Amino acid sequence: MLSECADATSSHLQNGIDTENQKTKTNYTWLPPNLPSKCTWKPGKPISDSPHSHVPLPEETNILPNILKKVGRTPLVRINKIGKAYGLKCELLAKCEYFNAGGSVKDRIALRMVEDAERAGIIKPGDTLIEPTSGNTGIGLALVAAVKGYRCIIVLPEKMSMEKVDILRALGSEIVRTPASNFDSPESNVSVAQRLRYEIPNSHILDQYRNPGNPMAHYDTTAEEILEQCEGKVHMVVGGAGTGGTITGIGRKLKEKCPECKIVGVDPEGSIVALPSELNTAEDATMEVEGIGHDFIPTVLDRSVVDLWCKSNDADSFLMARRLIREEGLLCGGSSGSAMSIAVKAARTLTEGQRCVVILPDSVRNYMSKFLNDRWMGKNGFLKNVQEHKPWWWNVKVQKLNLSAPLLLVPEVNCQKAIEILKEKGYAQAPVVAESGYLFYWLAPLSGMGVAHAQHLLGSATYIMWPIKETLHKLAKRRTGQIQHPLTSMRVGPGS
Ligand SMILES: Cc1ncc(COP(=O)(O)O)c(C=O)c1O
Repeated sequence: MLSECADATSSHLQNGIDTENQKTKTNYTWLPPNLPSKCTWKPGKPISDSPHSHVPLPEETNILPNILKKVGRTPLVRINKIGKAYGLKCELLAKCEYFNAGGSVKDRIALRMVEDAERAGIIKPGDTLIEPTSGNTGIGLALVAAVKGYRCIIVLPEKMSMEKVDILRALGSEIVRTPASNFDSPESNVSVAQRLRYEIPNSHILDQYRNPGNPMAHYDTTAEEILEQCEGKVHMVVGGAGTGGTITGIGRKLKEKCPECKIVGVDPEGSIVALPSELNTAEDATMEVEGIGHDFIPTVLDRSVVDLWCKSNDADSFLMARRLIREEGLLCGGSSGSAMSIAVKAARTLTEGQRCVVILPDSVRNYMSKFLNDRWMGKNGFLKNVQEHKPWWWNVKVQKLNLSAPLLLVPEVNCQKAIEILKEKGYAQAPVVAESGYLFYWLAPLSGMGVAHAQHLLGSATYIMWPIKETLHKLAKRRTGQIQHPLTSMRVGPGS
């Protein structure tokens, strides 16, 4: 039954997994991730007529048997400032998917696809799971694999952040990076994953692009949670489309249970997923936001449940993600900014008392070296006024600054006096310079330790009345390996 909904041509698919190729390993064929879906789902059909298997929302318990029970039941949080700043009348709510155990919305589908395949007897612990992904599905699968005992190989395009790679490694998965390329080229992550599966015994691609468990995870859980959290009153849901599983699953459930709710799909400029296709004109646009947008229409994406498609762009997305962090305290990723940057426009049609739910798919944890970083934002042209954050003196000549003479200590001054001077002048550090101009060392704290360190170093009863020079030489000798000697490492004078 499940196989009906995966792809139009393969008769040997179970839960979207190509079991035939896997058994024989002789008839390797390329399985595109964009074959038209055969899904027979129609809104309003009773669950008994559903072509899919269904799972109930998990129970909440005090002690969890393992971390996989912390997938789902994510918080819905009111956006208090941003909606007002855009003059919205409706209530704006964020579904914070980064609270899932692996940090993204994709944990839901990773767990669902693995457990569906286990229930169907297709996979068992010890087997190898291979997945082409932009990272978050990989992290979800690696997490499930770590807990359940699978080997995991993730095939990831070069563009994706190093943070994701490091997390995948930490979870014990093997990583294969692929160059930026069209999805159907031999070096794309989809093609490389399929070749690996062909080569490696007992390996499986659960295939988020064609696996009905992907949208079903959202139909059964994400959408149910939204309905429960909103007590059935939702007027708009805004979410991005990667594989399209999230928007499809949520859209299908809401069309059944809350038919007046508008589903707004967010597709980045440079992608071809939005409808009508005339929207997809900006072919050369940068697509730095990760996780959304494609050069094909994934099999699991049911565009009939989306009432309105809107195009997002990188700059607005990153700036909005930063606002969500700064103004609302929501530590979300770039595509959350994409969804919110569209929501603040789309929700203008809603009135007081109505509700707009925005999906925040992942966390800033994945992008610490990217959009969170001012230099990265400036270099990529997303932050025009990087100097906004620079101090007033950043472009004034040093000569022109009315600076007081720097504090210099002479090596002969005793330790007690040195401490008094540092305290009195409010300095955390000062150079110790001989009359000849030779810089002995900085009477410097080790990083971040401040005057307290100088006190610790100089203030012991034994040395307090000694000259700094002798004290530091003595201590450095005694505690080699403990003090990162300002004595030696900072010496810049003759003989250094
Ligand atoms: C980082 C990230 N992961 C996943 C998704 C959702 O993807 P999918 O359409 O595959 O459910 C999104 C959508 O916004 C996303 O931004």
